[in-house]
Amino acid sequence: MGKKRVLSGIQPTGSLHLGNYLGAIKHWVEGQDDKENFICIVDLHAITVYQDPEALRQSARRTAALLIACGIDPQRTTLFVQSHVRAHAEACWLLTCVTPLGWLERMTQFKDKSGKQETVGAGLLTYPVLQAADILLYDPDEVPVGEDQKQHVELTRDIAQRFNSLYGETFKLPEPVIPKVAARVMGLDDPTQKMSKSATGSGHAVGLDEDDAQIVKTFKRSVTDSGREIVFSDKPEKAGVKNLLEIYRAITGKSQADVLADFADARGYGDLKTRVAEVVVEALAPIRGRSRELLEDPAELDRLMAVGADRASKHAEAKLALIKERMGF
Ligand code: TYM
Repeated sequence: MGKKRVLSGIQPTGSLHLGNYLGAIKHWVEGQDDKENFICIVDLHAITVYQDPEALRQSARRTAALLIACGIDPQRTTLFVQSHVRAHAEACWLLTCVTPLGWLERMTQFKDKSGKQETVGAGLLTYPVLQAADILLYDPDEVPVGEDQKQHVELTRDIAQRFNSLYGETFKLPEPVIPKVAARVMGLDDPTQKMSKSATGSGHAVGLDEDDAQIVKTFKRSVTDSGREIVFSDKPEKAGVKNLLEIYRAITGKSQADVLADFADARGYGDLKTRVAEVVVEALAPIRGRSRELLEDPAELDRLMAVGADRASKHAEAKLALIKERMGF
């Protein structure tokens, strides 16, 4: 049997954070040896809300540097920028025409995000169809994502199924793969909210390129509860402590029991926060260093992205040709 194929994507705008790393990037890196990996920097998705053009142009490069610094190897992974592969936008239109409006209106991310905008761009609604195009152009077996993206991958399956039933078997149905630990890292200032790029304000997220002192400060200020018990519990008041323990567990790769054993001698939440911050700093410092080095040679990053786009285009163009043929073009 050949290698399983994997495709996933990440938005380049805002700073990449610990949630992106633990929920997604780390698993993409781990899968590189025994899977055929495609990782897409989704700049076309970013413009569903206004982006400053110059900042957007820089953001793809910065994201590429961070992903490579996290361990994505452009030799073993086809790492590319979405807007460099024209087939994504074209396939998006074709798939839009087989997607019922009601399916898009039901997406929780659309409901959340559209509520926060004064003017809701149509792109915010059709965003998951572009995501379906990203995925279906490559026939992946697996789509490794954090929990928040599960609904979009399920919608992709629905769109694929609908297309197959209208036009004949064309798409393989991809499986969402959600990590067992840290599938939903919560904000450190508010453990009821998912850690996200759009929630700005200090104390919320830990950026992958933040300095050690800032990371420690964010953890020290993180919201917990008024008790002292260090336990994995689903009680709402324990959400902050659980989030810290999950972060520690994901980074160290330890079992729940071993994590609790590590904290058996902790004197309250102060100790907990300091030790979690320590493992995070240790994991992120080399990533930050390496990404800064890579950014010193933008021409080399551009070259790597051009190679990735070339490899990705070969797959995407062939699939797009089939889709068009099936639809009668
Ligand atoms: P994005 O850019 O918001 O996030 C990239 C990846 O990080 C995961 N993630 C998290 N995991 C755990 N805890 C968190 N707090 C957290 N925040 C983010 C996300 O689940 C995701 O896996 N629509 C996608 C990008 C996309 C895509 C695709 C993904 C476009 N096309 C095709 C897969 C396949 C997004 O906005 O991810």
